[in-house]
Amino acid sequence: MDNTLKKGSEIELEVEGLAFGAKGLARLNGYIVFVPQSLPGQRVRAQITKKKKAFAEAKPLAVLRQSESYVEPRCQHFGECGGCLLQNLRYDVQLAYKQRQVVETIEHLAGIARPNVAAVIGSPQEYFYRNKMEFSFSRQRWLTRAEIESNQISGERDFALGLHSTNHYDKTLALEQCWLLSERSNRVLQVVREAVKPHALLPYTTQDHTGFWRFLVMREGKRTGDFMINFVTTDPPGGREAVADLSRKLTAEFPEITSIVHNLNRSKAQVAIGEEELVLHGPGYLRDRIGEFDFQISANSFFQTNTEGAEILYGLARDFAGLTGNETVYDLYSGAGTISIFVSPLAKQVVGFEIVPQAIYDAGVNCRINDITNCHFILGDLKDELAQVPVLIRRWGNPDVVIVDPPRAGMHPKVIQKLLELAPQRIVYVSCNPATFARDIKDICSRQYHLEKVQPVDMFPHTAHCEVVGLLTRD
Ligand SMILES: C[S@@+](CC[C@H](N)C(=O)[O-])C[C@H]1O[C@@H](n2cnc3c(N)ncnc32)[C@H](O)[C@@H]1O
Repeated sequence: MDNTLKKGSEIELEVEGLAFGAKGLARLNGYIVFVPQSLPGQRVRAQITKKKKAFAEAKPLAVLRQSESYVEPRCQHFGECGGCLLQNLRYDVQLAYKQRQVVETIEHLAGIARPNVAAVIGSPQEYFYRNKMEFSFSRQRWLTRAEIESNQISGERDFALGLHSTNHYDKTLALEQCWLLSERSNRVLQVVREAVKPHALLPYTTQDHTGFWRFLVMREGKRTGDFMINFVTTDPPGGREAVADLSRKLTAEFPEITSIVHNLNRSKAQVAIGEEELVLHGPGYLRDRIGEFDFQISANSFFQTNTEGAEILYGLARDFAGLTGNETVYDLYSGAGTISIFVSPLAKQVVGFEIVPQAIYDAGVNCRINDITNCHFILGDLKDELAQVPVLIRRWGNPDVVIVDPPRAGMHPKVIQKLLELAPQRIVYVSCNPATFARDIKDICSRQYHLEKVQPVDMFPHTAHCEVVGLLTRD
């Protein structure tokens, strides 16, 4: 630790690396200083904001020397939006750092020395790649740096529709344009904002759990042109009519909208999922295509947010599974059945497990529309559904391969334990969070498995996130 450093001290730093969460990493006599919003290769003047025994954190005040990997960020919200933290770093350099982070995460959290991690496969599209965005309504608009510095507040403070600002979950940045989304999604965002701003019903707030408007979710079928709008609100008197009015306005202005749904979330949990769904326009689902398969996706079902990236990801999962046509595959966390269906032509049968009823319904429909007859889906929490391993094996047979694709939090320890009891020859682990991936494979590799290889895929250019596919084989 450097004892001369204090909170508030100003120092000059050479940023030499990029740590998890897209923070620049510098060293002062060996002592680590994280510098958010700085790039490797930059020399910065920075102010210490946090000081701990093992590391400090510093806020950059000025760039004294620019990095050779710097590029001008496209987005007007860069630096204030919590999304694209790396938009000012050349894309090939982003990929190189993501690979290094995956290696280091596996080394540190899984305790595996020199893991076999391939170079990151980049996203086919660097911009406009997202097929979904979840915008929040808020009563607290995040004031931009320009507004604060000029002391000129342009627009209202008590209404916003946009994304959470960096590190401030309670405040919402009123996004004018997002470069990860299509142009039409950006236009719908502005129209909804102007329509809802003067509305008598207010945005929902978690401070006292009052208010109406919670989320605007947009989804696009990148390969079909479908366009689905989902409003998530509470359910007060007059609320349903308000959304129906707005829905009519949107369909008149945007004939390309194929579905509008209204999800009623009456709970205190601030999540973009409803207990009840009203279909206001169109069929109430989105259609898209991955590889040779068509998929139908309901508003509350998971679907990979980078469609072109998903095709690469699923191809890797299928290759890592090493199928010959005779295998029984269990697909844990199967969503709308997309991976199950993708690998099914090469398997004897696939059994998917999923907790969301709408996703299970979609998985059944997706099998029908693709003429797939060897996939079966089980609704329930994996903790419970895997509890009776002998019963499962009697019903479906021993799995030769298990594919797992859990949410960011990773697998529950009880699910890992049951996975080990199932004892497949191969486990293909797909993850959007290298940290929980590493934590879970540590457990799996402590008992009879080893990590053969990892292929990272960049499904989220310019953000700090990276998807990985790992292959674990039984010793
Ligand atoms: C990352 S998504 C993957 C879905 C699918 N494999 C795909 O590629 O579209 C994770 C899925 O796990 C489901 N899930 C989350 N917790 C679960 C649990 N405890 N039991 C079963 N499924 C769960 C979610 O609903 C979601 O569909």
